[in-house]
Amino acid sequence: MDEHVIRNYARAEEVFVSGKGCSVRDANGKEFLDFLSGLAVTALGYAYPPLVEAMRDQVGKLVHVSNLFRHPYTELVAGHLARHTELAASFFTNSGTESNEAAIKLARKYQRDRGQPERTSFVALHHAFHGRTCGSISITYKESYRAPFGQLLPVTFVPADDPNVLVQVVRNNKPAAVFLEPIQGEGGIYPLSHEFLRAARSVCDETGTLLVHDEIQSGLGRTGRFLAADWAGVKPDVITLAKPIAAGLPMGVMVVRQELAEVFKQGDHGSTFGGGPLVCRAALVFFEALEDGLLENVRVRGEQLGAGLERLRREFPLVAEVRGRGLMRGLRMARDAQKLQRDLYARGLIVNCTAGDVIRILPAFVVTAAEVDRGLEILAAGLRQL
Ligand SMILES: Cc1ncc(COP(=O)(O)O)c(C=O)c1O
Repeated sequence: MDEHVIRNYARAEEVFVSGKGCSVRDANGKEFLDFLSGLAVTALGYAYPPLVEAMRDQVGKLVHVSNLFRHPYTELVAGHLARHTELAASFFTNSGTESNEAAIKLARKYQRDRGQPERTSFVALHHAFHGRTCGSISITYKESYRAPFGQLLPVTFVPADDPNVLVQVVRNNKPAAVFLEPIQGEGGIYPLSHEFLRAARSVCDETGTLLVHDEIQSGLGRTGRFLAADWAGVKPDVITLAKPIAAGLPMGVMVVRQELAEVFKQGDHGSTFGGGPLVCRAALVFFEALEDGLLENVRVRGEQLGAGLERLRREFPLVAEVRGRGLMRGLRMARDAQKLQRDLYARGLIVNCTAGDVIRILPAFVVTAAEVDRGLEILAAGLRQL
């Protein structure tokens, strides 16, 4: 009975009860091949044995301590993040949107501390998605996500493919920060060009603007490197992460460079649950897996998936374009993709339709060669049927 649940989601009928690897099973025993992994979250698949073991152990020891006290795992996770991002320090949250809220507050306080308190506005991109809290919807492009909620933060949106416009707007507006996703996720798996990423870095340097990379969907290995922006060799001032970091448990993080680690003083920001022992233990399992060959699996399976999707594009004229990198892929259709997504679901393949005409494919990092082949076969069958 869902009468007591607010109806803000378009949920499918099926009730999922268990999973193993990339397969998930509903209450009637029907099995689905999951190429969405809970919207880029369950990177280690379902019931990953080391995660199951670590969680059982940790629940029996310590689930929560407030941030007034230390436990053994926060600092270890922060160490992994510092090593992989080459940035200095982390603030832990419970979700992507909270990581962006932290970055919004940090950018404003940073400007204020530098004697420029008037720099409270932001620049974000057309088709950007940064989350659902008030700060994050302010920098999210879709009008329908913002319009019902009244006065939000001052934000100027610029095209995602024109470095010149970005440079002009940042020079004129002197915002607190520029927010961008190196590969836009909800916006249709749209990779920003290296030229655009570099232009953003350089105009932010020139104007004293913070550059925030939202790698909540594209980061933590999904494209075959730790960060999607690593492919362009661009380092932001702030990175926001979440989704796969604790392999399905709710965790987010904002990672900042050294100078910015001093912006939040005691009491300036906080989160009751952020960085608790259970989620940090899960994150350690994730990092161990990533450092033990999983990133290589993303690269190899990502190439297999990309090549297979290109074959589909050549075979089916309704496929207009293959986008993305690694295990973050989009199939842009020459028409609305919703019908295809529903048909694939009926055939037992879970993918998602985003930006109206894009089939979004985000398998778990543990996906096997056979599973990639099977996913491609189901996709081909769905396309043939169209
Ligand atoms: C790029 C990006 N930023 C932020 C978010 C918001 O994350 P959350 O839903 O965990 O708040 C998402 C979620 O899809 C995302 O893809």
